Amino acid sequence: MNGKKYYFVAALVTVMLLALVYFAGSESHVIGAGTERTWITVDNSELQEITDSAKKAGQEFFPGVVKIENGIALIHATDQEIAIISEHAHKTLHKCGGFIAHTSETDALQTIERFAAQSENPSALLIEYSINNASAVQPVINNLAASRILETITTLSSFTTRYYRSTTGVESAAWIKDKWTALSIGRSDITVEYFNHPTFAQPSVILSIQGSSQPSEVVVLGAHQDSIRSGCSPSSTCLTLPAPGADDDASGVAALTEAIRELIAQGYTPEKTVKFMAYAGEEAGLLGSGAIAQNFQASGVNVVGVLQLDMTNYRSPSVDIAMITDFTNAPQNQFVRDLATAYLPTLVVTNSACGYACSDHASWHNRGFPASFPFEAPLSSSNPFLHTANDTLANSDFTGAHALKFSKLAAAYVLELAKGSLG
Ligand code: BES
Ligand code: ZN
Repeated sequence: MNGKKYYFVAALVTVMLLALVYFAGSESHVIGAGTERTWITVDNSELQEITDSAKKAGQEFFPGVVKIENGIALIHATDQEIAIISEHAHKTLHKCGGFIAHTSETDALQTIERFAAQSENPSALLIEYSINNASAVQPVINNLAASRILETITTLSSFTTRYYRSTTGVESAAWIKDKWTALSIGRSDITVEYFNHPTFAQPSVILSIQGSSQPSEVVVLGAHQDSIRSGCSPSSTCLTLPAPGADDDASGVAALTEAIRELIAQGYTPEKTVKFMAYAGEEAGLLGSGAIAQNFQASGVNVVGVLQLDMTNYRSPSVDIAMITDFTNAPQNQFVRDLATAYLPTLVVTNSACGYACSDHASWHNRGFPASFPFEAPLSSSNPFLHTANDTLANSDFTGAHALKFSKLAAAYVLELAKGSLG
């Protein structure tokens, strides 16, 4: 072998070895000391647009794409790369996020497979929906109050940030747990627990009401507890810059909290088990709901319905509720529309779509559980202050009347899907 050729081969082998180490993503060899990596999936054609946009902006962006299948790219991404993906998804695709974070490579691969399976074979699940529990629904929804929803929004948005890695984000989780625990006193069939996430500080919070006659069937209602400031840096400014998240999504947690309060106040006992969840880390890639849905699927929990409330308190001129039609279950969406017709007959209900896995409903949907997401407005006229210091109560419906509609819808959903009666 002549000298030049040997040099070339040696260089090639070195590059290949480096690439191998890089793509294997072994934490100890990751470029840039201390960089953590997350498995994420992103639509491949969107990734191409994001890459172009980042290059144009002069940013270094060479994400380690491990695999492309069914039009989805699997990346073992650094926080920096995730920040660039979010930034350019906003700029070029005019949408937020646009990727899903996974707990492991295996989980990411399973999600890709399930995506393909689901588009070929849409929901085989057959759940019977009926609306015939008005004697329980009416007294509960008549007693829900906007003033109490406002109290919860005010408290949650007064934490500087509820960012999932921040100290105040842990304190706000504790506040929710304490609040829900206080509402449950005297009920031995109700538990309020943390669902801890080993890779970040903020826990999810779960309130469970044990079903009286069909406890193995589980109805889930969720909202995300975390907030985020757009463009912040994960290890510094995200931890301290104001991110009140009054609408996104203190308003969802508040609407659920008010429904919980009145259901318990009227001695409600469901036939099926009901679980209210305040998810951690939604803004960082549906982390809390992703972990819970994964755990429930792995342990064979029979989730018969999921309702997501994410942003409930910003009113658009002519629509009250926009049903999100993607990453949701069509038969259950119809049930939710029918609930609105039956119990909130004056409201205008329309359809809208995110175009991507925009909230926690997608974590459940992607694992085959029927999820619905009634949203505050058509996407085109939703809250413009999202992810800024101006996502305040003053800049949303400061009367709480809009969020109240979603609290009523959530209460009706529980009482008609998990049925049971008042005490
Ligand atoms: N509440 C938003 C999602 C949303 C925004 C829905 C506007 C409808 C209209 C949610 O909290 C959010 O910001 N989600 C992330 C996605 C996630 C995978 C990081 C987003 O959209 O950037
Ligand atoms: Zn958000």
